[in-house]
Parts: sequence; C-alpha cells; structure tokens
Amino acid sequence: MRTLITGGTIVTATDTYKGDVLIEDERISAIGTSLPLPADRTIDAKGKLVLPGGIDVHTHLDMPFGGTTSADDFESGTIAAAHGGTTSVVDFAIQYKGETLRQAWEAWMKKAERKAAIDYGFHMIVTDLPESVEAEMDAMVAEGITSFKLFMAYRGVLMLDDGSIFRAFLRTAGNGGTICMHAENGDVIDVLVRRALAAGHTAPKWHALTRPPRAEAEATHRAICLAEMAGVPLYVVHLSAAEALEQITAARDRGLPAYAETCPQYLFLSYANYEEPGFEGAKYVMSPPLRAEGNEEKLWRGLAGNDLQAISTDHCPFCMKEQKELGRNDFSKIPNGAPGIETRLHLVHDGGVRRGRISLNRFVELTSTSPAKIFGLFPRKGTIAPGSDADLVLFDPAKKHTLSAKTHHMRVDYNPYEGREVTGKVDTVLSRGKVIVENEKFVGKAGAGEFLKRKPRS
Ligand code: URP
Ligand code: ZN
Ligand code: ZN
Repeated sequence: MRTLITGGTIVTATDTYKGDVLIEDERISAIGTSLPLPADRTIDAKGKLVLPGGIDVHTHLDMPFGGTTSADDFESGTIAAAHGGTTSVVDFAIQYKGETLRQAWEAWMKKAERKAAIDYGFHMIVTDLPESVEAEMDAMVAEGITSFKLFMAYRGVLMLDDGSIFRAFLRTAGNGGTICMHAENGDVIDVLVRRALAAGHTAPKWHALTRPPRAEAEATHRAICLAEMAGVPLYVVHLSAAEALEQITAARDRGLPAYAETCPQYLFLSYANYEEPGFEGAKYVMSPPLRAEGNEEKLWRGLAGNDLQAISTDHCPFCMKEQKELGRNDFSKIPNGAPGIETRLHLVHDGGVRRGRISLNRFVELTSTSPAKIFGLFPRKGTIAPGSDADLVLFDPAKKHTLSAKTHHMRVDYNPYEGREVTGKVDTVLSRGKVIVENEKFVGKAGAGEFLKRKPRS
C-alpha cells in the first residue's frame, strides 16, 4: 500500500519546507518535491502543515484512583487522542503493594490490548520496593518499560520513602532506565489538609491552598539531589510551579541530566479557576494544582529556553457527576485529575505558536520529538524521515474552532477549556500509514494500536 501526501508544509523539530511524503505500508519511504510516484492513495495537503504525530508521554487511561476509575479507557481515550493529533501515548502501569512489576505490566496490557486505537507504551509506577522488585526493574527495562514513576506524595497509597526512592534511583542508574518523579512533599501536604479540614474548609479551592508551590519546589530539589547522588537522569512530571522550574534550571546549569515536562493546564488555567461558583472548582482538582496567574509566563519561558523539554497532558479524566462529586463535602476526596488528551496540540499551537511564545519547530519538538527522544522512541516516532513510522498529522493552521464538551470525544462530562476559541485544527491523522481521522471522524480501529517496546538510554 503506497500513500502519497502532496503539497504540504513539512514541519519537524528542525526544519520547515514544502514537500511530498511517500508512505509504503507502515513507514515513510521517501520525502521530496513533486515526487513522480504512483500511489494507491494520494492525499492533498495544500495549505496544511504536515507534522509528526503527537506523542503524549503522560496519560492515565482506565486508572483506579480515589475510589473510582478514570473515565476514559484505552478505547475512548486513544480515539480522543487521535482526534487531537496524538498518535502515541505512554501510560502508567501501577504496581500495587505486594505485587510484582510483571503483574502490573500484564494487568495494564489487558486494559490496552484490543482497545487502543494508537500505539502505546508504559511507564511503571513503583509503590513497593522489596529487593525482589528492585531486581525486577532491570527485567522491565529489557521488556521495553524503560521508565519508572515514583511518588513523593500520597503516603500510604503511592508514596515511596526517600530510602526506597534512592534505591530505585541507583538501580535505574545501572539499567539504562529513566526516573519520572511526582515531586510534591506529601507529608507537608497531608498536615495542611488535616488542618484545613479541621478548620471547616471543605471547598475545592482548598485542594490548591494545601499544596503550596514550595512543597513542589522542595520535592523537586530533593529529587534532583538524590538523582545526582545516584547518577541517574531525572524527569520531573507535570511541573506546575515556577519555583520548581527554578530548581530544574539550576540543576541543568550545573550540567545535570535533569528534565521536566509541563502540561497545558498549567499554561492556560490558573488558581482563579478554583474560585468558580459552587462546586465548579472541582473540575480543576489535580496534583500539583493550578498556580497563581503569572506563573504560566515563566513556564512558557522555560519551554522556549529548553529548561522544560516536553508538554504532555497528565490526562486523568473524572466526570463531575458521580466522580468529582465524591468530594462535594470534602475537597480531599475529590479524585485528582483532569481531561486533556484531545486538546493539547490545539491549545499549544494557538497559545504558543500563534501568540509568538514558541516557534512552529519548537511546538513539534515539545509535543513529539523531545518526548520520543527522552523515552526511547526516536527515530521510529517523533519525526518525519525515511524509515520512521508514518504517524502523521495534517494540520490546518488557519481553521478556527471552539473547545467544548459538546463536541469533544473524551468520555467526560466537562471540558476545562469550555468555550475557548482556538485557531489551528487537526485535519487528517495517520497512524503507521493508515488514515485514522478524516473529516472530523475516527475511521481507524480500536485494537489497532501496538505495544511500544521502548529503548533504554544508550
Ligand atoms: O492529579 C493528577 N495529576 N492525577 C493523576 C495522577 C498523577 O499524579 O499524575
Ligand atoms: Zn503525578
Ligand atoms: Zn499523572
């Protein structure tokens, strides 16, 4: 099967040029101008950007949390991702206490197989680290699960103590994996939460007021120090606070392999959203929380200057009805997380590229190329080059549309960006050479996504 994409503007992390892309079966086989080649299907990309498919390295599909389960499973979540121009996700398998890592991996493979519409990989969340599990970390890396997420918050559920974190770091330093860190000081937060509840503060905004930016900055600093002592690269997930970014910047200035992602919610929303009337603030209960207005400009500067290397979504949707409502009388019972798997490229293109905060090439780098490189998927994913998977997005940079729960494909009853008009729209999406979105319709197949065995650090 030969597909030819003609006349578009090809954009990679480094180049922007007019050209045609020839796809043979699942891979890109040639790039040129006016390629005189016969094809089974020709797609006219005139006036469109041709981008490498988005890579979202932080999603939580079908994830149990706070007595409920995230509202998108691997079918609905990956179809929504495809509508938003994302063609690969790296989700999180969770090892519960007493389990082996392999049990966790198998459980999450069952959730994804025959459901995922795009390719998927897994990070492993380690919550329990006896010696046997420590040894198993090497086996996971060999299986292509080359990154481990550890939590410095949620004591008794997900959190690891500093000693266990350090042992996990040392092991990962030796096996070629990468550490993903949820950096918030959980014990400090737990004290603040107990005090707030004792004082009768139950509204959603108290979620943010009990998780101060310093609690994120302190944990980020501690994680950097532990990683430096262990000699392991550190990737801080969902970085929200400028104070935490200062720690990353300082570490990078010292030449340490410290990386961090932020997420659209920290670029487009703020603490003010928690002040929305009634229980509406629950829509934005996520950890870390949204920060004060003004914080976002510092994150944009970090993105432009490469102190932040990726934008992922932390897509973790819970419906207002029956899920967020669990915390109507107690903010600490509101399940943490918000939807975003479908809106990432649209928001970042509009607020980043069109507002002049980042270039088009940096947009591609932050949403596709750099996450592919950090997490062992490059050059199979994350670029447009001969030999790479034909995961491509035709993007109309001039088309306006409005983000809304009425039209989105995520299985959740609200959109945090409800009513926001953005310019630039995903038009056609190909996953390994097959068109999976055209004319605003999903035309792919649930189950067509393949497990991504990722490479360790070289
Ligand atoms: O609030 C959030 N971020 N929920 C998802 C779990 C996590 O910590 O990433
Ligand atoms: Zn987290
Ligand atoms: Zn997350």
